[in-house]
Amino acid sequence: MNTTRCDQTPAWSALQTHFDASGRTFDVREAFAADPSRFGAFSQSAPHVFADLSKNRIDATTQTLLLDLARQSGLESHRDAMFAGDKINATEGRQVMHWLLRNPPLALMDKGRVAINNLSGELTAVHTTLDAMLAYAETLRLDASITDVVNIGIGGSDLGPQMAVLALDEFVLPGKRFHFVSNVDGHELASVLKKLTVENTLFLIASKTFTTIETMTNAHSAKAWFASQGGTDIARHFAALTTNVAAANAFGISTTFGFWDWVGGRYSVWSAIGLPLAIAIGAPGFRQFLAGAHDMDEHFRTAPLDQNLPVRLGLLDVWYRNFHGFTSRNVAPYHSAMKRYPAYLQQLEMESNGKRVDASGAALPFATSPVVWGEPGTNGQHAYFQMLHQGTDVVPVEFVAVKKPRHSLPGHHTLLLANVLAQAQALMLGKADAGGHKDFPGNHPSTFLLLEELTPATLGALIALQEHRVFVSGSLWGINSFDQWGVELGKVLAKDVEARLLSGNAAGLDASTAGLLAQLCA
Ligand code: F6P
Repeated sequence: MNTTRCDQTPAWSALQTHFDASGRTFDVREAFAADPSRFGAFSQSAPHVFADLSKNRIDATTQTLLLDLARQSGLESHRDAMFAGDKINATEGRQVMHWLLRNPPLALMDKGRVAINNLSGELTAVHTTLDAMLAYAETLRLDASITDVVNIGIGGSDLGPQMAVLALDEFVLPGKRFHFVSNVDGHELASVLKKLTVENTLFLIASKTFTTIETMTNAHSAKAWFASQGGTDIARHFAALTTNVAAANAFGISTTFGFWDWVGGRYSVWSAIGLPLAIAIGAPGFRQFLAGAHDMDEHFRTAPLDQNLPVRLGLLDVWYRNFHGFTSRNVAPYHSAMKRYPAYLQQLEMESNGKRVDASGAALPFATSPVVWGEPGTNGQHAYFQMLHQGTDVVPVEFVAVKKPRHSLPGHHTLLLANVLAQAQALMLGKADAGGHKDFPGNHPSTFLLLEELTPATLGALIALQEHRVFVSGSLWGINSFDQWGVELGKVLAKDVEARLLSGNAAGLDASTAGLLAQLCA
């Protein structure tokens, strides 16, 4: 692998010169007036996703220089190293192979794909586990006595399956309810337990490590509740989804589905962690979800950089973060079922790229992950869109719209699409008003992602697209997008504080924490 941090390439300086000359004052409206073919030049079809990037602050020169930046940084070599199974997660000494989870079995693969041959053992293990997990999911779907499936997990062991089960609500088997318990706050588990009966419930304990304190605390409480209600058949009512099968067995769970350390938590919805989704939408639906993602993997792996959607999105992210200095990106899915899509993307991007040192440990002289935030449209319009249109910061927006609805209520979908188009239009065009209060400056950038329908396949492709665009910006920044050391310190301190809350001992604590401890222990 031959990579160079983006700021050490000639293209970086060329981009700075270009930004100073015309990028800073670039006006999308003028660009459209000057170039009627702009929509075609700045839109991109990818598997299951059409993207319009034309309302962004980029022109042909920006695009060319960003592509130079990608090439000079060694993006292709880094991407190929991931797809070859190299240990690109250097700080943890691991391969990065979530993409292998959606790869078809060897027998069905294009024989020209040489690299995969080195990974045939892993691919075989992936499909053995997948087949077993999907067979289990199908058994449960036929088992009418199991009405409630409770996923206990946090972070990647919660957000992926929760986001996907909610988003694919139209495909979910009637008669089964899905609950997601992640927070160590007992209110969450207690409120779910109130709705359950032992004989009708399946608990899925989802944890890559099987050590995460929130998940273990909730799992122990669920097991205690199960016993207190007369439950005895743990093998039938508990399953574990984990890389640490030994710990799950020690906990008392014999029904387990494994995965591997080369699957990052936030990239694990495609693994056994996806079991709630598989139960919800069935084995064929889950396979379509994987197939949609695989289509996007192949696009990312093989499309020329200038027609490669994850590459184009990732480069835009670098342009906005490092040259324009935009600090956040709003995500606005215009589909009410995509409720947890923004939260899912928050972990994906901010846990992956919220890093301040490069892969060698050297402090970075430029900014990395933006804040990613959002809500489904049209609700966001009646909350924070005021700030997007007239606030003092420029926040690029990434819309997602779906062409065909799956309901037949007249009028709604046209109105929904009218709103998403109008918001993108209003952000770009603005509206002059000398009075100030009613003035919309416009020239606010947005990207528009369009799906034909929201299905398992299109959702799979959309999520894989997001994974790869995060790879692209992380790769250019020279960071390790696949570790998450930043979550460790708080975990360690929480153990110490927990003991102090029980004992009331504030000795050696900072004065603020000691003051709060005294309030809580009084
Ligand atoms: O928050 C840190 C983290 O390690 C995430 O990366 C991960 O998704 C989450 O905790 C849950 O971890 P586990 O699946 O091991 O319980």
